[in-house]
Amino acid sequence: MKERDKPVNILGIETSCDETAAAVVTDGRIVRSSVVASQNKLHEKYGGVVPEIASRAHIEKMYPVITETLEQAGADKDDIDAIAVANQPGLTIALIVGVTAAKTLSLAWDKPLIAINHLHAHLQSAMLTEENLQLPAVALVVSGGHTCLYECQSPLELKLVGATIDDAAGEAFDKVANILKLPYPGGPAIERAAKKGNPNAIKFPRSMLGPESLDFSFSGIKTAVLYYCRGQDMKGENKVDSMSEQEISDIAASFQAAVIDVLVKKTRRAAERTDAKTVLLGGGVAANMQLRAAIQQSCNKAVPTRKLLVAPKQYCTDNAVMVASLAYHKFKAGLFADLTLEPKATG
Ligand code: KG4
Ligand code: ZN
Repeated sequence: MKERDKPVNILGIETSCDETAAAVVTDGRIVRSSVVASQNKLHEKYGGVVPEIASRAHIEKMYPVITETLEQAGADKDDIDAIAVANQPGLTIALIVGVTAAKTLSLAWDKPLIAINHLHAHLQSAMLTEENLQLPAVALVVSGGHTCLYECQSPLELKLVGATIDDAAGEAFDKVANILKLPYPGGPAIERAAKKGNPNAIKFPRSMLGPESLDFSFSGIKTAVLYYCRGQDMKGENKVDSMSEQEISDIAASFQAAVIDVLVKKTRRAAERTDAKTVLLGGGVAANMQLRAAIQQSCNKAVPTRKLLVAPKQYCTDNAVMVASLAYHKFKAGLFADLTLEPKATG
């Protein structure tokens, strides 16, 4: 087999927030193994991610997760062509664990190192199974830490065209779940509660930030839910304890509908502006079935040939398959990092 036809096996590492993950992916598409150690149980009682706890848990789990990933793939160091790691954006003290592990393996095994942007990787999840990607695309990443719209000319050419000016969509789900005393993480809990609720029960605000804007704002709706539960002056008791299950479900469904409405309209606005052939959807909130259905419906209605690609559900929330998959494109383009690589909070 000629050198250029040899399959490329990449070990991906992900520690940007509260999942310790590793994966081996061949040629950017064939998932040979994927291991995710979730920290949800550790952060549950705080209603959100505590960075110090996340970092400590990554340190404990990094080595066993990498070992298990290699075992599952039936691979050893000789089968691996490069080590890829998400080095931005995220919690610096969480990212540093993955970055240090990747740099160590790169040095010890003498393999090239590839730095990956976590948000771009989320979008790669949506392209994972597509063999004939039509470009340009418009890409929406909706996660716990970010809400971003990109214009995408290739998996490596992403131009940021819109972002949240305050809370991320996932963060709003988590905070509203907290107000409603639903379990953490809030997204899946709100989605479950919303199934039994009426999305038109309460008219929560939909912040569009003007007719041209591609930016997002979700802090207003979170505050609106808070006022709804505690009164405008915030002096009242949180009424949630005395609410019926139906009332909670109605709030969850109305909140979810408002957030989805904004996400769908802004994505459509961006797709029209770029005349996008494809819409990509990734990130933890993309696991939400109502959002997936609403974006699909909007795409079909707008331009029937515009294709929606959504990340498979198991690759919506943080994982390392998306890291190893995107790294394949950087490997092919010869875009390598060196041992001076550092984690970066922003990106
Ligand atoms: O992408 P991700 O795993 O981590 C970050 O990069 O932030 O996203 C986690 C976020 C959390 O805020 C979680 O509540 C949200 O994704 N999420 C959901 C659903 N599943 C996870 N939000 C709405 N509906 C869901 N089904
Ligand atoms: Zn993420």
